[in-house]
Amino acid sequence: MNVLITGGAGYIGSHIALSLLQQNHHVLVLDNLCNSSPIALQRVEALSGKKLAFHQGDIRRRADLNRVFNSESIDAVIHMAGLKSVNESLQKPVKYYQNNIAGTLTLLETMKQHQVNKLIFSSSATVYGIPVKIPLCENCDAGNTTNPYGASKYMVEKILREVVDAQPELAITALRYFNPAGAHASGQIGEHPAGIPNNLLPYLFQVANGLRAALPVFGDDYATPDGTGVRDYIHVMDLAEGHIQALKNLQAGYRHYNLGTGQGYSVLEIVRMFEQVSGKRVPLDMRPRRPGDVAICLSDPSSAREELDWQATRGLEAMLRDAWRWQVLNPQGYVVQPVEGEV
Ligand code: NAD
Ligand code: UD1
Repeated sequence: MNVLITGGAGYIGSHIALSLLQQNHHVLVLDNLCNSSPIALQRVEALSGKKLAFHQGDIRRRADLNRVFNSESIDAVIHMAGLKSVNESLQKPVKYYQNNIAGTLTLLETMKQHQVNKLIFSSSATVYGIPVKIPLCENCDAGNTTNPYGASKYMVEKILREVVDAQPELAITALRYFNPAGAHASGQIGEHPAGIPNNLLPYLFQVANGLRAALPVFGDDYATPDGTGVRDYIHVMDLAEGHIQALKNLQAGYRHYNLGTGQGYSVLEIVRMFEQVSGKRVPLDMRPRRPGDVAICLSDPSSAREELDWQATRGLEAMLRDAWRWQVLNPQGYVVQPVEGEV
């Protein structure tokens, strides 16, 4: 299959690109590199021993999309391009709606023009808002989102449902990721957030690396076994395989699935497991709850198992071990290390 990945140079997209190439699909990537590096794609090519077609451009620009769709025939699109910071979305909601919603509309118009009918969309567990029931299953209430980022994901899902009603030839699946973590086992590709990390694992790694003094633990008085927040972390390679299964099982109509493990870990459980895996000690800084956080967010992953024949196979230890390997090998992310003696 010829598969276009929008946002394919990013953290999750680069792992999907690798999995697709390893399964002998042809991969095209459209990315404006606003939060990624082309070095990720060079490493994907080196790891797979195969070439992909990279187009630098923006999903909001029709001309950029047309350039890609005219370059070769495309069978399916995996739409990952988007902005993902909850905090930034609260400061700059218009930027988030422009990028995540307007960008998707331009993509949908271009797909129609070029008669491309298959689409997988990167959605998020954030569409469930404050969970009313744990574990979260696909027919739990969604839409009661708490920030513009989450609202943009929910709105895109709604748009996709309506577009499918109007264009029954479309086959669209939205995948609601829980908490992606980990890296490819080679340590060659992974996540390197710019600035001060918001998410638990990137912050934890920077403390272990000596870049930050202590890990803030946001709240130890939740109704959880040790009082700290519980989440459903999923290995990015399991996530990548979930996309491949979703692609294989695409059918006309709109569907959405949780991609999670169904297993929850608290902040303190993560810290303890990381200390074992890395041999590093992680100083903690106990803080009040972070506004907007919930005690527990956990998936019921059974629909994806039953309908996509997919389930996560990698556990927390593998996530932490693989992500730590990436960190140790690439403390600055995808920065090209100067060769000694070179000017
Ligand atoms: P990422 O920032 O690493 O990747 C997103 C990529 O999209 C980046 O390479 C960025 O340069 C590109 N991009 C952004 N806007 C673009 C535009 N207008 N045109 C072209 N390219 C653009 O993020 P990620 O973690 O790989 O996430 C990928 C997708 O999955 C996003 O849509 C995100 O919202 C969604 N998601 C991520 C998480 C997570 O925790 N990482 C959780 C749930 C959902
Ligand atoms: C956050 C986003 C969510 C997004 C997801 C991407 C919020 C409210 N939600 O989810 O929309 O899809 O990231 O992975 O921002 N924690 C600490 N110290 C830290 C960082 C986090 O104790 O420095 C705790 C949090 O309180 C939480 C857990 O670790 O209990 C996980 O936090 P995080 O990695 O930020 O993910 P989520 O909040 O679940």
